[in-house]
Amino acid sequence: MDATSEDGYELWLRYRKLDDPTLLGQYRNAIHCATVLGKSPIADAIRRELARALPAILDQAVPLSDRTRACNSLVVGTAGELDAIGVSLSQADYRRLGEDGFTIRSLPFTGNHWILITGISGPAILVGIFHFLRLLQTHRDIHALDVSVCPRIRHRILCHWDNIDGSIERGYAGGSLWNWEELPGIAGTWLVDYARACASIGLNGTVLNNVNAQPESLSTEYLRKTAALADLFRPYCIRVYLSPLFSAPVQLGGLGTSDPRRPEVSEWWKRKVEEIYRLIPDFGGFVVKANSEGQPGPQDYGANHDDGANLLAAALEPYGGMVLWRAFVYDAATDADRAKCAYEEFVPLDGKFQPNVLLQVKNGPADFQPREPFHPLFGAMAKTPLALELQITQEYLGQSIHLVYLASMWKEVLDSDTYAKGPGTTVARIVDGSAGDGATSAIVGVANTGSDRNWCGHHFAQANWYAFGRLAWDAGISAEAIADEWIRMTWSNDPVVVDVIKLMMLGSWEACIDYMTPLGLHHIMQEGHHYGPDPGFDGAPRADWNNVYYHRADAEGVGFDRSSSGSNAASQYHSPLREQFDDMAACPERLLLWFHHVGWHHRLRSGSVLWEELQRHYDAGVAYVQEMVRTWQSLQGKIDPERHRHVSERLEQQLENAQLWRQVCISYFGRFASSKPRIRGPDPCLP
Ligand code: GCU
Repeated sequence: MDATSEDGYELWLRYRKLDDPTLLGQYRNAIHCATVLGKSPIADAIRRELARALPAILDQAVPLSDRTRACNSLVVGTAGELDAIGVSLSQADYRRLGEDGFTIRSLPFTGNHWILITGISGPAILVGIFHFLRLLQTHRDIHALDVSVCPRIRHRILCHWDNIDGSIERGYAGGSLWNWEELPGIAGTWLVDYARACASIGLNGTVLNNVNAQPESLSTEYLRKTAALADLFRPYCIRVYLSPLFSAPVQLGGLGTSDPRRPEVSEWWKRKVEEIYRLIPDFGGFVVKANSEGQPGPQDYGANHDDGANLLAAALEPYGGMVLWRAFVYDAATDADRAKCAYEEFVPLDGKFQPNVLLQVKNGPADFQPREPFHPLFGAMAKTPLALELQITQEYLGQSIHLVYLASMWKEVLDSDTYAKGPGTTVARIVDGSAGDGATSAIVGVANTGSDRNWCGHHFAQANWYAFGRLAWDAGISAEAIADEWIRMTWSNDPVVVDVIKLMMLGSWEACIDYMTPLGLHHIMQEGHHYGPDPGFDGAPRADWNNVYYHRADAEGVGFDRSSSGSNAASQYHSPLREQFDDMAACPERLLLWFHHVGWHHRLRSGSVLWEELQRHYDAGVAYVQEMVRTWQSLQGKIDPERHRHVSERLEQQLENAQLWRQVCISYFGRFASSKPRIRGPDPCLP
């Protein structure tokens, strides 16, 4: 590897010497020595991070101490620790910050100029110091700091679909990060770096195993391994969670049943949870996939989701643990339209869950497609806290080959207005609890990490891990602001690099939709692995496992009629959305073929007919990737050669794949569309 080459291992925590002499002078002047109060594993983790970062950024020694001294400039401590040395912010200040919020302030103090980082709790100041380092890494002015930030969502969790054998379901960056074979004896050094990365973006939980669970994960042997990981992550305030197999009482416990209503079953879970908390006192809880895609669940015994969730909730409740019960269900017997099933199953259960149960709902009603409308359960479960599940790993979006910046998608979802309690009841407000009683809240991202040296397979996929954390902390930040931070920390503060990369990232999601599934098309990827196009796939035994089910192309037109003349999925949304989605003329065109079967020669707002418009989108998607290839080339010499080459290769592959998408889809849909004349000009379908 070239001496100046980088391999991406450091992620956005690259602490490099400031190359701007004026700013360097300002920073050196402001941070000539640092104090981290307190004696705790968190305080030690903070000291380690500052000891690593400050000398590297400032290119000079920065003495670190655990007590205040005359030379003090940077002071870090919780409210209690500051109190003990006679320094304090007002009670009102701390109240505003809440349990996890932090503040960074420039303060004059006994003749010195302090930068104070404080909050009520250890976790708060841990995130605070990473925020402060981000200010330095992104070259912000630190003269008169007055930053106060608190998270809107309480539990911010990465979910790893990792199997015990080291494989990862939908993983595209190597094998599992967890070295199960060697644990609990040997811990990998990268595990601490994983925890640092999560903490730096405000995450505070990690689910270690696949939602398609294996019974062994709850065995004593594996719980000891899990406890070893929990010990490593604890100083970084990351709690561990597990996905239990619902039938574990039978498969692991040897009982004759896992019926949630049987006393021996609840006793078994009680004991198991007791054992877990003996080993992991701050265990977060369970994420459960039940009666979904063949996984066992309460319905196997004639019971329902609430029985199952409440059984586990009762076992976890004494320890403060919670259940994230997944709503990803689509039993064909519930409704012939897969997108309607979860709503139909769960809405009647609203109000029946214990307070420590959250219903975990994917962003859309199908399955992590490039674009879906938001899931209609958001806004339909007034008495149940809903956790939002996003997929960071790009199962349907080009995996670790395509550069697709997902913050834009997640913002669209979070900002969507459900109208559940009138205008302004956005998905974000439902998830963070501010639209309801706010009792508890969670957001979960299916991780894209693996054992690859650069963690995520594609250097730009790191941006999605980063963006998930930042949005989980504050859904109000713009996709652009997050990209700006990430680029400066990961690549360079050079304005040309920042501008060029930002431009590439910000249009990349829409481009991916354009070359894969424009105008509301969905689920036409190749079967099984979901990479590449196969709109004609029709070989699976279940209707909704076939791609033709989703687009329904015929000689008349294309699209799934979910209006009142079709499956009526539009009626699962609140007014005025339901009327808007129901009416082909009012439906947002980005979702047109999701809600309507539209004639090939139906005229769209652009003046073009559908078939022309579809082709235009395919062309635009490919053109965007061509432009990314070109602009990335222009950064040669400004980016270290190793990472530049790595990204170039992937962009070339992305371009080939985008061209394939266009070719396959235009040729496939063209067979239907061209059964009618392909003419520009007046719409032959209009009177
Ligand atoms: C998708 C994905 C599966 C996963 C499932 C889930 O269907 O393809 O691999 O198990 O989602 O979310 O449970």
